[in-house]
Amino acid sequence: MFIQTILLPLLAGLTQGTPLTPRQAATQVVRLSSIENVAVRPNGLILATNMNQATLHQIDPVAKTSSTAVTVSGASGLSGIAEFAPDVFAVIGGKGIYRVDFTVTPPKSTLIKTITEASNLNGLSAFDATSVLVADAGKGNVYKFDVNTGAYSEVAKDPTMAPTGGIPFGIDGIRYANGTLWYTNIFKNSFHKLPLDPVTGKSAGAQTTIWSNLMGDDLCFGPNGKIYVSTNSRNSLVEVDPTAARPSAVQVGSVTGSTSCSFGRTERDRNVAYVGGGQGVFAVTVKI
Ligand SMILES: *[C@@H]1O[C@H](CO)[C@@H](O)[C@H](O)[C@H]1NC(C)=O
Repeated sequence: MFIQTILLPLLAGLTQGTPLTPRQAATQVVRLSSIENVAVRPNGLILATNMNQATLHQIDPVAKTSSTAVTVSGASGLSGIAEFAPDVFAVIGGKGIYRVDFTVTPPKSTLIKTITEASNLNGLSAFDATSVLVADAGKGNVYKFDVNTGAYSEVAKDPTMAPTGGIPFGIDGIRYANGTLWYTNIFKNSFHKLPLDPVTGKSAGAQTTIWSNLMGDDLCFGPNGKIYVSTNSRNSLVEVDPTAARPSAVQVGSVTGSTSCSFGRTERDRNVAYVGGGQGVFAVTVKI
């Protein structure tokens, strides 16, 4: 979620947390306003969303240029995005889940279906070949959504996903892999994991809180088994080792208003996390 402009005054009391270790300045890839989420295509081009624009930006990290990949007609802003089939992405636009297909020229966007009862859809993750997971930050739940039929149902809901106080944002970033859903709750300053049934997507046990003292927005899996979390008002990207007995956050990069991340997919940049933030897209090189 991009919160710098509207909610920064509310964050004053919420930003204390884990002391962070020395930081690496990130390299700016392109300057764009208020990037909400990023994904990387198989060809290495970066896709970036903005909650106030129907434009899906496409960024060339080598040339450091950006252009419009596609305008998602019917949406007024875009948030979570993830690839569910090779070069085919699902993206949230309001209450609608859109399919953006780069296997055709020009790329094509179509509304799959609207989740009519949604309150505030924000995070989206791939789940399997035919479905994605969609987090409702307002309701504090997760839907499994079929990208072919548009059929959807709630598969998880937990107090750790609920919004705090009057701000309609609870669960924010979500990423699923290998039977585990990792998620942040932005205003609870928390990061969690929850087992999901790998077939039905249904919650299959109790959640574990990884931390509750550091703001987390969207997250991404690294090529090294580590998880990376953007910390928004903490202006950083942190690394977490999910196999550690007590996983903790280690700062690996400094990005103002970091909202999201996604790793490079070519030989030259598979160790680079592209981080969306308040002023564009940045590159943070990590150890793999
Ligand atoms: C999921 O499991 C596969 C196969 O063991 C592994 O290659 C991959 O790194 C795992 N992903 C995550 C994010 O743990």
